[in-house]
Amino acid sequence: MENMILAALEEGIGSCPIASVDRDKLRKILNIPGDYEISLVLALGYPDESPVEESSEGSVKYWKDKDGVLHVPKKKLETVLHWNSF
Ligand SMILES: Cc1cc2nc3c(=O)[nH]c(=O)nc-3n(C[C@H](O)[C@H](O)[C@H](O)COP(=O)(O)O)c2cc1C
Repeated sequence: MENMILAALEEGIGSCPIASVDRDKLRKILNIPGDYEISLVLALGYPDESPVEESSEGSVKYWKDKDGVLHVPKKKLETVLHWNSF
């Protein structure tokens, strides 16, 4: 999926991996055989926003400012990256 995300991005297509999905319903809608596991869904589309990345100091909740610009807090690298051990 990561490769799909990167390849789509290269074509100007945005994406969002989705784990929270009604797998039984999706299986019925798309007629997916029972021996196929639905791991994740990837939503694809042409972006209509230009989000601004923010450094997170705790919450990673997105917000829009008065101009309608989406702000996306990201955790700092040192809070998620571990070298050799935790
Ligand atoms: C394994 C995985 C599962 C995800 N599941 C959901 C989901 O169920 N609903 C959703 O809105 N976003 C989901 N996302 C998207 C994340 O919320 C987030 O938007 C995305 O990972 C980009 O943020 P990042 O650049 O901080 O990683 C998922 C992402 C990953 C990697």
